[in-house]
Amino acid sequence: MTAQNTPGFSTRAVHAGSAPEELTGAVIPPLYLSTTYHPHKIGELRGGYDYSRGTNPTRDALQEQLAALEGGRFGISYASGLGAEDAILRGLLSAGDHVVMGNDVYGGTFRLISRIHGAAGIGHTPVDLTDLDAVRGALSATGARLLWVETPSNPMMKIADIEALVALAHEHGALAVVDNTFASPYLQQPLALGADVVVHSTTKYLGGHSDVVGGAVITNDEEIADKVRFIQFAAGNQSSPFDAYLTMRGAKTLGVRMDRHCDNAEAVAQWLLGRPEVSHVLYPGLPDHPGHEVAARQMKRFGGMVSVRLKGGEAAARTVAESTRLFTLAESLGGIESLMNYPSEMTHASVKGTELAVPVDLLRLSVGIEDVEDLLADLEQAFAQL
Ligand SMILES: Cc1ncc(COP(=O)(O)O)c(C=O)c1O
Repeated sequence: MTAQNTPGFSTRAVHAGSAPEELTGAVIPPLYLSTTYHPHKIGELRGGYDYSRGTNPTRDALQEQLAALEGGRFGISYASGLGAEDAILRGLLSAGDHVVMGNDVYGGTFRLISRIHGAAGIGHTPVDLTDLDAVRGALSATGARLLWVETPSNPMMKIADIEALVALAHEHGALAVVDNTFASPYLQQPLALGADVVVHSTTKYLGGHSDVVGGAVITNDEEIADKVRFIQFAAGNQSSPFDAYLTMRGAKTLGVRMDRHCDNAEAVAQWLLGRPEVSHVLYPGLPDHPGHEVAARQMKRFGGMVSVRLKGGEAAARTVAESTRLFTLAESLGGIESLMNYPSEMTHASVKGTELAVPVDLLRLSVGIEDVEDLLADLEQAFAQL
């Protein structure tokens, strides 16, 4: 397909992986729950299907859709975002290898790399990814095999320059992995910026409805794809057919949802900026955000996540978090409904007391697609409790 006739993002979201099914013409890929498949003869499979841990038509449809959305050749889906991350680490690293990663990487990623893979002989060095000299130093001091980038980061909303970091990784013989969960492929496509591997928690914006946990790896590199797919098959952490079906259904509307998430988040960030109780609004769409220019270059818009720090410290943050009504106090993000999170005790409790600890005065808002006047009114009444 040439650049001229590559379909647009939402056309791919709706159609990739969704060609009408051969048998019945079903317009939506059917949910294949069968665990096993009858071959024509021994060794002569129908369409390559034999056993559902390895291959499943519903999962294949999702994988094709995810690859198309990231502009990649290979998509591989997993039972969770961490399952996808684990497949990358297990597939591409062996004992003695090292990972350089952001010093505000998602807490679960830090736990996976430091505790599970640390115990298996993988080293790690957290570093500020906005400081390219520090990244260069860490890559050359450690001889790292992987540079792990998350941008925007969770929950500090830091922006890392994907193109510059990929160049540094490659200069040092490392592979660049980008966790694209916060942006979603609608807003940012790391493979086009040179990244070797993209990873997602599809639990978030791709699924988009807070009703299915999943993860995905997308790459253009066949050797990487084979290694990471082998973990899916051999370790059995693949997405189930039902989860694949739901994720695919959600991802079809990613573009329209993301535009609304961005509209609403911009309005919420502006509202927060005007509040005397607020010390910092962390949103890359604000011109004085330190990553604003890089974000404007590598993202289509600035996303649906907003973090905020309160002058009243921990007590104020807890009061607001427990006072909102439409913003539901809960873990996770990226669904159609607005969520409020107190990371220090919730999503990021696992990094408390480490150098990745999150400030206790910080709240993270996943701004949903409700009517924005209602969201602002909800914040207004919650701030009135301070
Ligand atoms: C940026 C990021 N990456 C990965 C994950 C892990 O995904 P999952 O919860 O689907 O395992 C999360 C979960 O919150 C996340 O926010």
